[in-house]
Amino acid sequence: MKHLIDIRDITTDEIEQLIEKANDIIKNPEKYREKCKYKKLATLFFEPSTRTRLSFEAAMMELGGNVLGFSEAQSSSASKGESVSDTVKVVSCYADIIAMRHPKEGAPMVASFKSDAPIINAGDGGHNHPTQTLTDLLTIKRKKGKLSDITVGFCGDLKFGRTVHSLIAALSRYENVKFVLISPDELKVPGYIRKDVLKKEKCEFVETSDLQEVIGQLDVLYMTRVQRERFFNEADYIRLRDSYILTPEKLDTAKADLSILHPLPRVNEISTKIDEDPRACYFEQALNGKYIRMALILKLLEID
Ligand code: NCD
Repeated sequence: MKHLIDIRDITTDEIEQLIEKANDIIKNPEKYREKCKYKKLATLFFEPSTRTRLSFEAAMMELGGNVLGFSEAQSSSASKGESVSDTVKVVSCYADIIAMRHPKEGAPMVASFKSDAPIINAGDGGHNHPTQTLTDLLTIKRKKGKLSDITVGFCGDLKFGRTVHSLIAALSRYENVKFVLISPDELKVPGYIRKDVLKKEKCEFVETSDLQEVIGQLDVLYMTRVQRERFFNEADYIRLRDSYILTPEKLDTAKADLSILHPLPRVNEISTKIDEDPRACYFEQALNGKYIRMALILKLLEID
């Protein structure tokens, strides 16, 4: 593996190794403090981000490396009309590894063709978000002790939510994972996820719009934000944004050991009253994002 563009670029064995490494980093952080001394990570963010960009930067800093980059397209030469390929070709002269987020699906892949440095897709439009998926897998593994034999509910914007697409693609490769896809009709998973992932991998899945009806079956509930920035008109967003709001009452019929995940940012799809519930894992999940990115940087830079 040179770049990480799609979660399917890596095998389940490689995922297992990254999870093990992240767990070791959590246990023995001091062992890793100088592993990336004199190395540089560039974060090229053509789209807003808090967790992804800052956790990449924190990850590199905790490995003893340095960071450079930009956090909006407006402050880069993209605003002068420079192509992604040219930007990346230049940045790969300055940095050893590049994390890139872009509103256009496929942009990080195009970048990877031109870059001498490893490229990590930090989110491309409504398509993929493989490092969020590694974060989610680490969180599920730490909570459940396994990634197989679980029932996972995905709730909210399953059409535009790139974290959902990547996590389904990853979990579809594990044994006996049941998928419960909960969304309004207009925000169901794209056809290619149903056909090329779920059906192709012979996964058991159901689609419903009723969270209450299925919540009791779930081991993991993956809540998502309705992706305002990908809608063609504001009226549709306003109509759909409050489709699901998780409140303490709605958890009455949920399992006692349910794990509630959310890639964040949350708008209002999870009541803040749930933050104190031991089943809420989303802030811990955000922290896990730093550790798994440390593991990934080490792997792509071939540092043991
Ligand atoms: C997600 C993203 O950017 O796709 N956020 C993140 O990376 N943690 C989810 C979202 O923005 O809703």
